[in-house]
Amino acid sequence: MKNLLVTGGCGFIGANFIRYLLSESDFTGRIINADKLTYAGNPENLTEVAEKFPERYVFVQADLCDTKAVSDVFERHDIDAICHFAAESHVDRSIVEPDAFIKTNIVGTFNLLELARHRKDKTLLFHHVSTDEVYGTLGAEGFFTEHTPYSPSSPYSASKAASDHIVRAYHRTYGLPVTLSNCSNNYGPYQFPEKLIPLMILNALEGKPLPVYGDGRNVRDWLYVKDHCIAVWTIMKQGRRGETYNIGGRCEMHNIDVVRMICDLLDEIKPQTGGKARRDLITFVKDRPGHDLRYAIDCTKLEKELGWMPAESFETGIRKTVEWYIAHQEWVKRVKSGEYLSWIARHYHSGVQK
Ligand code: NAD
Ligand code: DAU
Repeated sequence: MKNLLVTGGCGFIGANFIRYLLSESDFTGRIINADKLTYAGNPENLTEVAEKFPERYVFVQADLCDTKAVSDVFERHDIDAICHFAAESHVDRSIVEPDAFIKTNIVGTFNLLELARHRKDKTLLFHHVSTDEVYGTLGAEGFFTEHTPYSPSSPYSASKAASDHIVRAYHRTYGLPVTLSNCSNNYGPYQFPEKLIPLMILNALEGKPLPVYGDGRNVRDWLYVKDHCIAVWTIMKQGRRGETYNIGGRCEMHNIDVVRMICDLLDEIKPQTGGKARRDLITFVKDRPGHDLRYAIDCTKLEKELGWMPAESFETGIRKTVEWYIAHQEWVKRVKSGEYLSWIARHYHSGVQK
C-alpha cells in the first residue's frame, strides 16, 4: 500500500488512525486524507503530523458526494488502497436531520466504490469502517457476532447498514477486494464533544448539568480509539478479502456508571471548590427516540484469526482521556466555539425528567 486514501481523516477516529499509521505503525507509504470538513472535521487534529511528515501526508478537502472532486483525488494521487471512515456519525443528529446521513453514508460510499471498481490498472483494497449499531439492540443477554442479522434502529445506523450491504455487493458482484469492520463505541483524544464521554467530561469540568438519557441503564461496549485503529490496520493487512470482522472492547458499561466514573475521576484530579461532588450534576433528561438498550460485541473472530487484543482497559483508557481533555483546553475552546452546542441544547437537553 503505497498511496493510502483515508476518508474522513479530520474526524475523531480518522485523525487517530492517521496519527497511529504515520507515527507508530509499520506503514511506510503516503496518506491522502480526503475530508469535506463538516462541523466534525477539524484539520487541527493533524497539525503535528502534517508538519512532521510533509512528504507522507497530503490533505485534500473533498466531499464524497461530489464525484468529480473524488475522481480528481484518484487521478492525482495514484491511490492503491482506501480506508473509508468518512460519515455523518452522530445518532441524535440523524434523528433530527437524516438528510446528510443518507447522502454521505450511502451515496458517498457508493461513489467511492464506483471509482475503486473502475480503476483500470490496479486492484484497490477497500476497507469499510462500520458500526455495531447495524445489528440493532440486544436484550439483557447475548452478543453481536458477524452473523447477527441486521436490524438498525436510527437513520444513522440504517444508513451505515445500507453502506455495508453495498460494499459486500461490490465484492460478490465485481470481485472488488474489500474488508469490513463493525466496531463498538469508541472514546479517547479528539472526540467531538457531542458524544457521551467528551460531553460529560467538559460539562463536569465547567460545573454544568450532565444530561443522561432515560434512566441511564442503556449499555454500551467501550473501546479506546487507538485499539480500534490498530484493529483496522491489522484487518487491512491480514484480513481475508470479502470478510467482516467485529471489533469490541469486551467492556460493557451502563451509561450512568460511565458518567459516575468520569465524575469521580475529575473529583480526584481536579476537585471542585468546596469539594462538591460532581455526581450532583447528573440530570436525567427525556430519552432518545428508538434508543437501543444494549450493545455487546463478540470479537472472537478478530482475536483468533488475526491475534488482535485491546491494550487498554476502561480504567486506563478513561483516565488517559480525562487527562487529555484537561491538558487540551485550547483545542476544546476552539472546537466549542462551533455551532454544535446551541444545536444539541435546542434539540436534546431541554426535557428534564427528574
Ligand atoms: P466523526 O463524526 O468524528 O468524523 C467524521 C469525519 O468525516 C469528519 O472529519 C467529517 O468532516 C468527514 N465527513 C463527513 N461527511 C463527509 C463527506 N460527505 N465527504 C468527506 N468527508 C466527510 O466520526 P468518527 O466518530 O470519527 O467515526 C468515523 C467512522 O467510524 C464512521 O464511519 C463511523 O460510522 C464509524 N464508527 C464510529 C464509532 C464511534 O464510536 N465514534 C464506532 C464505530 C464505528
Ligand atoms: O456503537 C458504535 C456507535 O457509537 C457509533 O457507530 C456512533 O458513530 C457513535 O456516535 C456511538 O453511538 P452512540 O449513540 O452509542 O454514542 P453516544 O455517545 O451518542 O451515546 C452513548 C450512550 O449515551 C447512548 O446510550 C446515549 C447516551 N447519551 C448520549 C448523550 C450524547 C446520554 O445519555 N446523554 C447524552 O448527552
